[in-house]
Amino acid sequence: MIVLAAGDGKRMKSSTPKVLHQIAGRSILAHVLSATSKLEAGELRVVIGAGKELVSEELKEITPKAKQIIQEVRGGTGHATRLALEGAASKGRVLICAGDTPLLTSATLSSLIEVHESAGAIATVLTTELPDPFGYGRILRDSTGELDSIVEERDASEAVKEIPEINSGVYLFEIEALNKALGKIGKSNSQGEEYLTDVIAILKAEGVKVATHQAEDFTEILGINDRAQLSDVSAMMRDRINDALMRSGVTIEDPASVWIDVSVEIDADVHIEPGVAIKGGSKIQTGAKLGPRTTLIDCEVGAGASVIESHCESSKIGARAKVGPYAHLRGGTVLADEVKVGSFVEMKNSTLGEGSKVPHLSYVGDAKIGRESNIGAATIFVNYDGVSKHETKVGDHVRIGSDSMLIAPVEIGDGAYTAAGSIINEDVPPGALGIARARQVNILGWVLKKRKGTKSAEAAEKKEGSK
Ligand code: UD1
Ligand code: CA
Repeated sequence: MIVLAAGDGKRMKSSTPKVLHQIAGRSILAHVLSATSKLEAGELRVVIGAGKELVSEELKEITPKAKQIIQEVRGGTGHATRLALEGAASKGRVLICAGDTPLLTSATLSSLIEVHESAGAIATVLTTELPDPFGYGRILRDSTGELDSIVEERDASEAVKEIPEINSGVYLFEIEALNKALGKIGKSNSQGEEYLTDVIAILKAEGVKVATHQAEDFTEILGINDRAQLSDVSAMMRDRINDALMRSGVTIEDPASVWIDVSVEIDADVHIEPGVAIKGGSKIQTGAKLGPRTTLIDCEVGAGASVIESHCESSKIGARAKVGPYAHLRGGTVLADEVKVGSFVEMKNSTLGEGSKVPHLSYVGDAKIGRESNIGAATIFVNYDGVSKHETKVGDHVRIGSDSMLIAPVEIGDGAYTAAGSIINEDVPPGALGIARARQVNILGWVLKKRKGTKSAEAAEKKEGSK
């Protein structure tokens, strides 16, 4: 199999090679290769050129076995195919795809192969009818309805431009015949390139069998050439992913606002509210409730947990845990079952034991918190001294008073308390109350003396008079 991916993608106006732009968490090229990987299509050869260093790295990562063929100068799809066939098997058949059609499915490729076999064809072209065929090569048929040739938009007459049936850029060829035909193609077209599409007319002139297979779903062959098409195709991929999830038992209230990467796993009976993005290797267990407006990147969410209006990255959320609204879980956060992480709480590289709570306005960094402990509102785990990060340990059944500063490294023993407003920089033994704040002093009459004539003084005077 050959994938052509050397084009420069000028219309993307990007420093990133076109085939490396992302859709649903995967590069465009990786989507194509995911569809083709499900077929047994022999050795994989990928032609790369524009941005070849980056594309080559991506290929090494996603399909290390693929043979990379470098096309130094864009010579057209025919030229790219010729390069790819050098040193390849000279007999048998070859599937050719473009690297920029991420919606292509393996099912459609399988039917293309079936049609080729049952027709006993030398070449079979995947076609489709498009509502707007502008920009694509058109399929010309003879009087008997058989494929005659493919004419590019740039080289087409007005009459040919009216034809709605287009070339998808996906073909199956018998290699021997393809090699011969490629030797005969020229460059006499508006771009001065060797067009792979020209082999069709050459084969046809030789009188061999050339077939077509029309894809039912035209979206499958949509190619990406600019950012508007990238956005259109992304939305189609989103719908495809959401449809499959809904069919498998996931509730998605507003699918148009929910963006889920292909790599994400979601159980049945998960409920997703509007404005949710779930990315990377996230896994969501049954009964979880996500959203509205929540982003999860590489997160595991346990059964029955809820995550509301929150941003979470590389974190584990236990079963029946409650996160948000407005929580920020950063990398390495591990929440046990039945915990609560409430509004305006940021956590990083910390574990929170079963049943424990950080309900409001806190920063928890580099902490290990035991079971059934409560971290009072506005507590800060002071983990950074400006040079290095230090760890704080909080035991089981601990009560941290509101507005405590826990200056790491420090340990709060099981069952211990800290008084509200304390700055704790020494360990608190189990069962102890740690208080670290100045004793309060009331200077009586201060306002009456120092703020005479103010509303405060008036209010205080009234209160005194009423006594
Ligand atoms: C091509 C087809 C057109 C078809 C359309 C489907 C030709 C001449 N035209 O047009 O009939 O309707 O695809 O999307 O084949 N590439 C290389 N090396 C090159 C040129 C291209 O590797 O020298 C690769 C590109 O990276 C791309 C694919 O081949 O993945 C198609 O090239 P592109 O320039 O996108 O061709 P289209 O104009 O879309
Ligand atoms: Ca294209």
